[in-house]
Amino acid sequence: MDIAGITLKNPVMPASGTFGSGQEYSGFVDLDRLGAVVTKGVSLVPWEGNPTPRIMETASGMINAVGLQNPGIEVFIRRDLPFLRQFDTKVIINVCGSTVADYLGAVERLSVQGIDMLEINISCPNVEHGGIAFGQEPRMVEYITKEIKKKAAQPVSMKLTPNVTDITEIAKAAEAGGADALSLINTITGMRIDVKKRTFSVANKTGGLSGPAIKPVALRMVWQTCRAVSIPVIGMGGIQSAEDALEFIMAGAAAVAVGTANFRNPCAMPEIIGGLEKYMEENGIRDLKEISRYYRNAKRVFFTGANPFVLSFDKLKMLAELVKKYYPKVQSIGCFARITDITPKTTEQLRELREIGYNSLTIGVEAGDEESLSFMHKGFGVKEILTECQRLDEVGMDYNFFYLAGIYGSGHMEEGVKNTAAVFNQLHPKIIVSSMLTIYPSSELYQEIQAGNWAEETEIEKLYELRMLIEGLAIDTYFATMGASNCVNVEGHLPKDRNRMIKWLDEVIGSVDETELRRYRENLRHL
Ligand SMILES: Cc1cc2nc3c(=O)[nH]c(=O)nc-3n(C[C@H](O)[C@H](O)[C@H](O)COP(=O)(O)O)c2cc1C
Repeated sequence: MDIAGITLKNPVMPASGTFGSGQEYSGFVDLDRLGAVVTKGVSLVPWEGNPTPRIMETASGMINAVGLQNPGIEVFIRRDLPFLRQFDTKVIINVCGSTVADYLGAVERLSVQGIDMLEINISCPNVEHGGIAFGQEPRMVEYITKEIKKKAAQPVSMKLTPNVTDITEIAKAAEAGGADALSLINTITGMRIDVKKRTFSVANKTGGLSGPAIKPVALRMVWQTCRAVSIPVIGMGGIQSAEDALEFIMAGAAAVAVGTANFRNPCAMPEIIGGLEKYMEENGIRDLKEISRYYRNAKRVFFTGANPFVLSFDKLKMLAELVKKYYPKVQSIGCFARITDITPKTTEQLRELREIGYNSLTIGVEAGDEESLSFMHKGFGVKEILTECQRLDEVGMDYNFFYLAGIYGSGHMEEGVKNTAAVFNQLHPKIIVSSMLTIYPSSELYQEIQAGNWAEETEIEKLYELRMLIEGLAIDTYFATMGASNCVNVEGHLPKDRNRMIKWLDEVIGSVDETELRRYRENLRHL
């Protein structure tokens, strides 16, 4: 398997700081068996570490405040590196520092033969910036990654701290800085108090929590990160069995690191490797990548972001090919679309798009009333809605509509709904999703109201509007209000659930108060 251009014989490696420099464990573990050896953190100059006691057990884990004690890079290069080079495994060097210059100096010094990757521990306090860890500020993460990448002779994995509000922000910053991979998670800041001595259990007061206690947090962060970035992730935090490792791989990790478990069971890693091999054999898996995508069994894909159907026929075809490649079981591709996105495509092209999977366009028609469509500057009218959707019907491509209650304006609602129902009734939308108009003071429509050119429907009128539309729709469809803009929710299959839906709306209309509904609308901060 490959990570950032280096090929590992398997995805298992020690987590930095829990396996010394490899030599300490070589009596228990055949280093040739490991995907890689990750060393404990090395710094440009020797670090003494923290005062003792430095380690304390916790429920399902431990707290350590070793303080990255290490003899410095020169000793490492002279003593440890030649030892590691004897083995048929990859060598990953973990680097720590307390200033940017420290990191850069170490990275430059490590541009020697026999090192396959650098792992940069950015959980260290930045002494030039009040001691806040480098890895806690996205801007600093991007900056330091960029600088390190300029100096590094090997691929770089940034090792992230979990002691942040949003791990994906940090992960994206490292990716933006040019990181080749990410390693996560480092330890979670924790504390213990010795009640007999009435003092902190470790001399540093706080320390890093590791071991099985942190596994659910680590897994969640790895999963979030894998969805946020496209560089590979080395997942770690509480892994002690093959099943734990599989969880990380299924969450999207390309490889896994085993830390605290090595202290309890020095043979944890070979056992995990054996367990993974057994799992692969029993489940007919040739490459663990096959299970690394959580959604690999996905049957439907939906492209979001504005209206992807605006893309040319050729680009949509290419996207469908990519979907097939990565999600072979996908049967239907959906996306948002405008009526005007359908117009430039020939019926033959629409047919081909249908054949390669496009089968669920969600179209923002908002209404089927000529006057309202032109008032909204939609760029299409009733004729275009009918022509384009009938072409979709002809090629068998399913579509849904977005409907916007309130767009007719006071005084035009009844006529508007009637027109819309007449248009929709000639078509076959699978779903009609309804939102309610909410007018913000910054909008053009607000100015129109102020100028007396347009009057808003009352909230109760909007409920009547829904009632009328549900009553007027003579087609088989699913009608659903969705999103916060709706102060009342109603949904169901038409015609089957029509009576229930109307009864519910009548009940609401008979019991709610306009000012109450208005208050709801005015307090809507987002839709
Ligand atoms: C005693 C100890 C020392 C550690 N030293 C380092 C280190 O030097 N550099 C680093 O990036 N992470 C270090 N870590 C963090 C681990 O590499 C790992 O990210 C963390 O412990 C979570 O994995 P685990 O729960 O499997 O131990 C250390 C962890 C422990 C317990």
